Order: sequence, then structure tokens, then C-alpha cells
Amino acid sequence: MTQHLAAPSTGTSDEAAGHRTGWWQDAVIYQVYPRSFADGNGDGMGDLAGVRGRLPYLKELGVDAVWLSPFYASPQADAGYDVADYRAIDPMFGSLLDADALIRDAHDLGLRIIVDLVPNHSSDQHEWFKRALAEGPGSALRDRYHFRPGKGTDGELPPNDWESIFGGPAWTRTVNPDGTPGEWYLHLFAPEQPDFNWEHPAVADEFRSILRFWLDMGVDGFRVDVAHGLVKAEGLPDLGTHDQLKLLGNDVMPFFDQDGVHEIYRSWRTILDEYPGDRIAVAEAWTPTVERTANYVRPDEMHQAFNFQYLATAWDAAALREVIDTSLDAMRPVGAPTTWVLSNHDVTRHATRFANPAGLGTQIRTPGDRELGLRRARAASLLMLALPGSAYVYQGEELGLPDVTDLPDEARQDPSFFRADGQDGFRDGCRVPIPWTREGSSYGFGAGGSWLPQPTGWGELSVEAQTGAAGSTLELYRAAIAARRAHPGLGAGADVRWLEAPAGLLSFARPGFVCTVNTTGAPVRIPVQGTVLLSSAPVETDGDTVELPADTTVWWTV
Ligand code: NOJ
Repeated sequence: MTQHLAAPSTGTSDEAAGHRTGWWQDAVIYQVYPRSFADGNGDGMGDLAGVRGRLPYLKELGVDAVWLSPFYASPQADAGYDVADYRAIDPMFGSLLDADALIRDAHDLGLRIIVDLVPNHSSDQHEWFKRALAEGPGSALRDRYHFRPGKGTDGELPPNDWESIFGGPAWTRTVNPDGTPGEWYLHLFAPEQPDFNWEHPAVADEFRSILRFWLDMGVDGFRVDVAHGLVKAEGLPDLGTHDQLKLLGNDVMPFFDQDGVHEIYRSWRTILDEYPGDRIAVAEAWTPTVERTANYVRPDEMHQAFNFQYLATAWDAAALREVIDTSLDAMRPVGAPTTWVLSNHDVTRHATRFANPAGLGTQIRTPGDRELGLRRARAASLLMLALPGSAYVYQGEELGLPDVTDLPDEARQDPSFFRADGQDGFRDGCRVPIPWTREGSSYGFGAGGSWLPQPTGWGELSVEAQTGAAGSTLELYRAAIAARRAHPGLGAGADVRWLEAPAGLLSFARPGFVCTVNTTGAPVRIPVQGTVLLSSAPVETDGDTVELPADTTVWWTV
């Protein structure tokens, strides 16, 4: 049921928050995965009260904004990305009063709040979908989703050959109210996530209203889930192949990255612009090229788009240089900041990706060489935070957390794990609740256990263990983010000036500043570049030269 607030808070003004106009241009944005961040009521599941209690930690970390993954009323078939009521908080996370208090407290601390918006699909428990099913074929509500008769003599075959991203067909057959087999409906993700039909005006109207609801609550922006998926090609044409996973992300598909989506974002932009305080939208758009990603952030559309090409790049100097250049080049013509991201709740954490041989992709099942992974992860994070644009930090990466690769099958909750041949299947490993304290119940996550089991030794990686510890990953992040603030030139602009560097190294200049990265597994001696500001591993200059340890990034002021 939708809960209503008597007095919604208003947006933070730029002045009050201490940000200049266009705050998102170089913002460091921290992703909170509410289930796994902090548990305020001790039920083993993270919640909004838990997040609220930890806002001072985020303030101290120095981030500009917090993006919260979905906390809406949901049966949790896909950890909240199946929304039953877009204007209500799931009781497992709290209430609208908790959301209001969280937004207000964040604003008081000068932190901005970005919420997740899930417009491609709803839950199958959404009122519209439940009624569409109950009313049977011919129900007007079916037009708000993609219902179709099946193929074959008795409609026993799906309407087309599309596959779900989570594996299996993208269609599920319904049962008519009289018990006979009925039409099919489209779900690009789990069967519990029916896709909306964005050609229907009621869908567009509803989402404009949802945007306003959350803007009136005071949020500073939206991360738009599956932003590339809302519009489907006319007639829902067959793909003509059963090797869909190979095409995903490499091609424009009849259900992804259709040009028609942009009209929707133009209409949303006018709403965002009506509100004071620079409200933003961030696209989760998996497109074949960074150039196509740039279409989502044209001046009259969204403000940022995730740079998944960067996330998917191996720890390799040449590959990194290329993706940095193509990313900056692609965004420059549209005037949007380039974003940088290494981890999120859908991919193996970068400390574990980099612990494994390059080329295994973003879903990795093996722990690899943990020490190597952490060393590279720290270097990769310093590189990311030195680049111009906006950087995304996924909760726990500031602790250097690895993925938990040995979760028992019975603990797993990711729906793709239960659907054969899906895209991922192992996303639980990056969603394990984070450790706050060395000891104690769920290492300080909450007073009552944790919904996914935490590994033994997790406490040694905790916030408590790392706070004030010289050389800890947490202190490295704190220092790097503080340095970005102290040297505004660091995140600003849209260019890097590459400097000559030996093979396997990257070196680039930014105003008043040089960043050098050794991606090789061996130390390399280079000329001193200036004064060491920060480094991901200890470095000692020796007169005119410095030995860069293996897999190390150094920031220099010049
Ligand atoms: C992208 C989200 O990040 C992911 O967690 C979710 O499963 C899909 N979209 C479907 O909503």
C-alpha cells in the first residue's frame, strides 16, 4: 500500500550543500546496496535506518552523493528490481518516513541522494499486472505490458525467439481465469518482471508522476535501470539466433538501444529541469559502443551514463589507455562528463576480477591470487579517481573487499542462478553484507546475522580495522577523495594529456598534476614526475628517479 507523507522535504539548494552548479560533472558517487550496507533493526537484512545511521561514515569518506539500489515495495524476485509499488518502501527496508529522514539527514550533511528507477519492467505483483492477468485476454490493462498469443497450433510456442537476460525464454505463458492456457507475456529478465509497453500513454504518464513523487520527496536524481530497454522494435521481430548472449552489448538489438528510447528521456529532462538544485538522471545503458552511450547524455536527455566499457577493461596499460581515450572522445561532443566505474552489484568485484587472468570477463567464479587482486584494485581505483569526470564507488570497494566466491548453493538468491544458461548467475558474491567491525554479530552489519553468509576473517577487512591504519585501502580512498576536493582540477574538464611512458605504464598530466600507473607485474624505474601526493603502494624517490612497484599508481603534484 502506498504511504503518504504530510510534509515532504524539498531539494537541497546548491548553496546549502556547498556544491557549484553542475555538481555531477566531477562527483564521486557511492553506491549503497541497501540489503547489504547496514542493518538498523537486526533482522539480518540491511535497511534505510541502517543507511541513515552510517551517513557520517559516507560524509567522512568524502563522497558527493549516494545512489541507493531499489528499496521499493517488492516481492524481491530480483532483489528489489521487481517493483510492486513505486511510491512505497518495502517494509523490509522501512517506511516512507525513513526515506524522508534519510534524505533530510543526507542533505544536512551536504550529501546528495540518487534513487534507482526501474521503468523497463514492474513486478508481476504490481497492481496493473495482477489485474491484467485476472481480467483475462482483452483486458485493457494487458496493453500496458506485452501480451501476445503464442505461435504453433495451440499457441504453445512463444511469440518470438527472444531470450531472457537471466536465461531461458523471454516469454511466459499465462493461464486464463478459467484455467485454460492463455497468452504469453514478455519479460527480458525474470518471469516475475514483466516488461512495460512504453508505447502506451498510461505507462509514460505513470512514470512522469513517479519522477515527480520522488523529486517532491527531495531526491537529487535517478539511476535509470535498463535505460536502453524501454522501447522494443516495431512488431517484436525475431532475432534469428539462439546465440543472443554473444550479441548482447555488441549490437543494437530489437529490444535494446532502440532509437525511440531517447524521446522518453527528453520528456524526463524537462521535469528534472523544473526542480531547483540540479537534479540528475544517470543511464544504466548497455550499448554496443561508447558513441551510442553518448546518445543518452545529449544536452536535453540524461546527465550521465555508466561507462561499462571501462568497467570491462582488463588491467592492461594499452587497453586502459584506449578505453580512456574513446570514452572521453565520445562524451566531448555531447558535453557530458565521462563516468568511471569499476564495480557494482551486478559484476564480480574488481579486487577479484584483477586477481584472475585477464579475459575472464566480469563474472568470475574463482578467488584467484587475492594479494595480486588487491594490489591491482588499489592501483585501478587511484587511476579511476584521477580521471576527469564522475567516479562511482560500490560499497565495500573502499575496503578492498573481494567477491565471495564460495557461497554455498543453498545460500544463493540471485534469480539468474536458478535459470540455466543465464548471463550471470553469480551476482550474490558481490552482495555479501559489508563488515563494519572486527568482531561481533555479522561484523557490525547488524545485531542479527546477515542474509548472505559472510566469510571468516571478514572482520579484518572491516571499517574498524582499517580506520586510521596506515596504508589501508579505506585510508587510501579517503585520502584520494580528499585530494580530489583539494585539487579541483583533478576531476574537472574532459581531457588527459598523455606523457611518454615505458610499455605497460600509463602516464598522463592534468592541470598541476601527473598520474603514473605501472600495470606490469615488475617494478619499473622512471624519472621523478613531481612531488608524490598519493600512491597505491609505498614508493621512494631516489634523487631524480623513482622505482614504481608492480601494479602501482602514483599521483604527483607538479
Ligand atoms: C540492472 C540491475 O542492475 C540488475 O541488478 C537487475 O537485475 C536488472 N537491471 C533488471 O532490473
